Amino acid sequence: MMMIGSSFLVYTAANFTRKSVPPPISRFMAGYSISFCKTFHNGLFHQIRKSLVGVANLAHTSSHDYSTAVSDGTFKASDLQVKLAKPDQLQKKPDVGNLIFGKCFTDHMFTAEWEKPTGWGPPKISPLEPLRIHPAAKVLHYAIELFEGMKAYRGSDGKIRLFRPDLNMIRLLQGARRSMLPSFDPLEFVECMKRLIKIEEEWIPHSETSSLYIRPTFIGTDPSLGVALSNHAMLFVILCPVGPYFATGFKPVSLFADPSYVRAWPGGCGDTKLGANYAPTVFVQKTAEAAGLQQVLWLYGEDNQLTEVGTMNIFVFMKNEKGERELITPPLNGLILPGVTRQSILDLAREWKDFKVTERTITMKEVIQAQKEKRLLEVFGAGTACIVCPVSAISFQGTKYDIPTSEQESPVYQKFLKQLSDIYYGHISHPWGVLVD
Ligand SMILES: Cc1ncc(COP(=O)(O)O)c(C=O)c1O
Repeated sequence: MMMIGSSFLVYTAANFTRKSVPPPISRFMAGYSISFCKTFHNGLFHQIRKSLVGVANLAHTSSHDYSTAVSDGTFKASDLQVKLAKPDQLQKKPDVGNLIFGKCFTDHMFTAEWEKPTGWGPPKISPLEPLRIHPAAKVLHYAIELFEGMKAYRGSDGKIRLFRPDLNMIRLLQGARRSMLPSFDPLEFVECMKRLIKIEEEWIPHSETSSLYIRPTFIGTDPSLGVALSNHAMLFVILCPVGPYFATGFKPVSLFADPSYVRAWPGGCGDTKLGANYAPTVFVQKTAEAAGLQQVLWLYGEDNQLTEVGTMNIFVFMKNEKGERELITPPLNGLILPGVTRQSILDLAREWKDFKVTERTITMKEVIQAQKEKRLLEVFGAGTACIVCPVSAISFQGTKYDIPTSEQESPVYQKFLKQLSDIYYGHISHPWGVLVD
């Protein structure tokens, strides 16, 4: 039995027994978006449950078998043990204008620990402190670790909202399964995070260009060497207030596209947020910077398929050969992280029906051809950190190709930015904005 929460009966009984064969993330998210975007449900529970039911229909198409995935009950928000920091432990709130991403943390953190065979211990909120783990802990040797990146926004109405946390929970649980870490009830976890956010409410900037970054992290803490599943695990959450991503306005970025570096490959786990996917990218990012470029455009295959940009999903907006305006992003084929922003951009664009929207492979050859024929309109990255990030140039095989993203009269990337910001900050009431109450 994977989950104990009665709210997950469909999920539990039908799809997540030890014998079930879950689909890889790409199919999972594809099923998710199909089932979810057709109807907007009011509660988080309905959103997650519906998406998980959608997954069941794809299970038989899986090429992976994680059937031995660990599955042991859940912790519950009602069991939360809260220990607040003493007044002298509270830090001074920073000036949001000067915040550097990821360097400033709030006063409290969430932790929950799991052990085989006893299962999940009580979830805890306590003052932020260094972790105590054994030097042999599997996370330190075999990188049994995954994480999420989400945000809480303070709206114009003073209310605090999360954005589509159900999608983060799905991605987290899929990554946990790929890492053989235990599952938990995602609704209970979201409730625990809401409690933490409420406690840290004053850390959420009173600004519509800022937010509170949420970093759920899941590690294998088994104190033993040997590449094997971890019989001990820890789930924790830390929070950072973050200022505007582009402090001095939108600055388009230039991209370094070198096919000799590959971020993800078929059968790998580039479609999960395992920390192991990120360590090897730092070297390539530094190589890009040494070449005077700002981000890495990750290519794949003999035909140089565009896959992702830095730690963002990529979108290309162009006039196709038939003269139609088309928004293209690579499909969730196992090489692509199923981004929450990516999914939201696709969902919005399909709702607007202003132009063709396609999830398909796009190669450098096609981008260069469109650029030469002046059909290429915009290239942009998409992710929780920056929302959208316009691209001004791609450097590939010795040539710098200029991209006219910022030269468009009313670029589509700005329309997505506006619509998403309106949802984050509660300017419009939307089921994707989940209240922290
Ligand atoms: C590799 C990669 N692609 C895409 C994204 C964007 O995902 P999201 O929109 O969920 O932030 C991220 C950020 O988490 C990422 O690390």
